[in-house]
Amino acid sequence: MIARLLRIKPMSMLTAEAGEQGEHTLKRSLGVVNLVTLGIGAVIGAGIFVLTGQAAALHAGPAVALSFVLAGLTCAFAGLCYAEFASIIPIAGSAYTYGYATLGELVAWIIGWDLVLEYAFGAATVASGWAGYFNSLLAQLHIVIPPQLTAIPGTPLVEYRGQWMPLASLPPGMSDAGLPHATGLFNLVAVLAIMAITAILVLGIKESANFNSAVVFVKLGVVGVFLAVGGMFLLRHPAVAHANWHPFIPPADASGNFGWAGIPKAAASIFFAYIGFDAVSTAAQEAKNPQRDMPIGILGSLVFCTILYILVSLVLTGLVSYKTLNVADPVALGIDATGVSWGALLVKIGAVFGLGTVMLVMLLGQSRVFYSMSRDGLLWKWASAVHPRFRTPWISTMVVGALAAIMPAILPIDRLAQLVNIGTLLAFAIVSAGVWVLRVRHPELHRPFRTPLVPLVPILGILSSVYLMTNLSRITWEVMIGWLVFGLAIYFTYSVRHSKVQQQAGAASAD
Ligand code: ALA
Repeated sequence: MIARLLRIKPMSMLTAEAGEQGEHTLKRSLGVVNLVTLGIGAVIGAGIFVLTGQAAALHAGPAVALSFVLAGLTCAFAGLCYAEFASIIPIAGSAYTYGYATLGELVAWIIGWDLVLEYAFGAATVASGWAGYFNSLLAQLHIVIPPQLTAIPGTPLVEYRGQWMPLASLPPGMSDAGLPHATGLFNLVAVLAIMAITAILVLGIKESANFNSAVVFVKLGVVGVFLAVGGMFLLRHPAVAHANWHPFIPPADASGNFGWAGIPKAAASIFFAYIGFDAVSTAAQEAKNPQRDMPIGILGSLVFCTILYILVSLVLTGLVSYKTLNVADPVALGIDATGVSWGALLVKIGAVFGLGTVMLVMLLGQSRVFYSMSRDGLLWKWASAVHPRFRTPWISTMVVGALAAIMPAILPIDRLAQLVNIGTLLAFAIVSAGVWVLRVRHPELHRPFRTPLVPLVPILGILSSVYLMTNLSRITWEVMIGWLVFGLAIYFTYSVRHSKVQQQAGAASAD
């Protein structure tokens, strides 16, 4: 039995499938700049636009900038390991494919099942952030939607300055007496966002590729404007920055927030902002020179985003007191403080478009993982059914879309983000361990890119990922464990018996 669970997917099978699916015909057209842009497009989203504000307000204050350094380092270790895998297995893949080809079926299953937490729940989290900016944009344009349909069940809402918001988002010390009140029913806006993206994915996304790259530049432009306008303001008003940045590490409170302990706590939450750089590895077959460019693509987008995030968090916490940042649209709040009248509108429009493409990449990634698992016989056949006309895995896309749509309707963004983070950190730890295991078991494999300092870097990858996981809440751990147990039940009742790799191995041994 153990031998079966450790069975790996032979390279010949991987390459044959790649040919069968026509993937070998993909044009090798992506250079370094394209790959870095792809990574950035998948990465910059709800993390920086929403969660940074919450992490500063609730966990770390201005020191959230240090949390970005900590989370960025964790990603760098894992990123170096991803780069080695991406260069060994030169076909379009994900951590699931790497795991199957190197560590065996059970580990591959765990990664694949765990990636649902990253991609499907990730899209749900971004949808929740998207809804916050969209609602705020509508309010600024004086378009009214019933507040009950903009928040999860039971959220107390108040109307403040012409905008409905959660009671918890009112500026600190401000009383809600005399303000109109309402209670959230469900977040319809987020549901509609996921439904729209799912429809685009079912109909095919080729046409939207150019739109996608254009949006990356719009998104970067908006972040750039925020940094320029905010940075200039702080240079001209150093007293404001001084008041807001002091103390840089606010004193610890009784519940373990702020102080030094608040920095890793915030890091475990804003880690979400980095998720998606591994999307670069899914484009391995379209890269002109994958051996050289994949690592540069993965690590380049990571370094770029780390610097950008540190700057954004510094400017944001300099412009306004971190205590006021627990709102749905903190970046818009920040730029508003500069007095630039068009700033908030620009940020909101940029976020609405920019977060849209992140949802697209995540839902696409999820349906691809389910599609691969189903083709391997580890999930039911319907998950890889391709629509005769649209040529897309429509059923799995719709199932994933439905799952991702329910989540933001009923769960708060921070809860969702925590789940995504714990799932992704687990995948990072497994991928890091995998690189090390493979070096020991198969030192002879051709490795166009070698993770430096093995086993030190993989060990640091494992330790830093697990350390951030320990900073997440107990309920998050419980849900993840429950999710994995549920997955293993499917594996042992269905997948083991339908696995193509097992069947092929069985046939070979019978010959
Ligand atoms: N990193 C992506 C975001 O922040 C998932 O939205």
